[in-house]
Amino acid sequence: MRHALCQDHEMLEGTSRGFELEGQSIFLVRRQNKVYAYRNRCPHLGINLEWQPDQFLDADACLIQCAMHGALFIIESGQCISGPCTGQSLTALPCDIENGDIWVQLPDDSESSAR
Ligand code: FES
Repeated sequence: MRHALCQDHEMLEGTSRGFELEGQSIFLVRRQNKVYAYRNRCPHLGINLEWQPDQFLDADACLIQCAMHGALFIIESGQCISGPCTGQSLTALPCDIENGDIWVQLPDDSESSAR
């Protein structure tokens, strides 16, 4: 199912933001004016990534970072390049911008695919 999460102008360059949607935790990142959506679930232990609300990025805002053990992920692909889950990836969600809103597609069987 497709959901409007927020307005396009609310996501500033180099920032991230978390959302709860249908009982799932997801987050958005804007980099080089593109928006990426991922499930908020570290492939290492399956827990949320952020250390504070809406803080999903490293100090330079160049990579997504898991607060628990410091795994680093490429913003554009979700691939882990450092840390205990190197080589694994975050789960990307289809994301697009329409009429000034950011839309994310959640899989219909989101409960089973989250495991
Ligand atoms: S839980 Fe994310 S790096 Fe360990």
